[in-house]
Amino acid sequence: MNNETNQWQQHIGTVWASLLSNHSLNRLGTIVEIGPGFTDKIGRGLAKLQFRGNLYILEPNEMALEWVVQRYETLLPHATIVAVNSTTRNSCTVFPGGVEAILMNHVLDDMILYAGLLPAIQQSIFSQIRPGESCLSQVKNTWQALLEDTKYLSEIKDEVLTDLCNLINHADARILGMSQYKSWFLLQNELEEADLIGNRLLCDIATHFGDMSVEDKNILRSNGQDPQAWLFIEKENVFETLDNKFKVILQTAGNKLY
Ligand SMILES: C[S@@+](CC[C@H](N)C(=O)[O-])C[C@H]1O[C@@H](n2cnc3c(N)ncnc32)[C@H](O)[C@@H]1O
Repeated sequence: MNNETNQWQQHIGTVWASLLSNHSLNRLGTIVEIGPGFTDKIGRGLAKLQFRGNLYILEPNEMALEWVVQRYETLLPHATIVAVNSTTRNSCTVFPGGVEAILMNHVLDDMILYAGLLPAIQQSIFSQIRPGESCLSQVKNTWQALLEDTKYLSEIKDEVLTDLCNLINHADARILGMSQYKSWFLLQNELEEADLIGNRLLCDIATHFGDMSVEDKNILRSNGQDPQAWLFIEKENVFETLDNKFKVILQTAGNKLY
């Protein structure tokens, strides 16, 4: 990891720590992180808060999972790291209900890409997606093909959303946190449209869940982040109608969300 990448990981980790701290994270609780890949931003944030609870890492890529488990064991020596080598699909029963938080940093676009790849190449492609490294031609080609086939893209997005909603419903988390800020990687590789799709998905989810608190928005702004590119909500505020809200999201997924 070069210096610039390292600084970025640290910066985003600090943003996560500030948000979680603002919601009095129970550092002995159970957290589920979805799709870290070869990154440790959320882990760095949790380390700042001296997290020592259970951390489930849901990551379908074997190499990335191995990397991140090792990294998190160093960063969070008092936490219990549980590796879950799976996607959001059918993984609900792996962790207990009533978790403290579900967190995902810039994963929505990758969930769509992953679902759009042939199963035979999902592992090899995502083993090679590392922060600060150049874009694989297969990633570019797959995104271009997906962007041209709007019907297929829409089906995939619905699947991603359904799987995610099922998982969130099952986990019944106190805190739900997602980021989908503009990606330098996608920008550099002329894949801004892929980024827009991820961002729109997050914004639409946020629309259905209600707005973030002013305090959280200020935390994001003071860290140079666009509040519209993040979703950070606490159960007491908006989760009580989670089921209904997700029903609305699912019903409208085909035509309204994108
Ligand atoms: C490449 S990383 C990038 C996101 C990373 N968290 C960051 O901060 O940059 C995204 C990871 O999401 C994983 N992924 C893709 N689809 C997923 C799904 N449905 N459930 C869980 N993880 C998924 C991929 O295997 C990949 O390692």
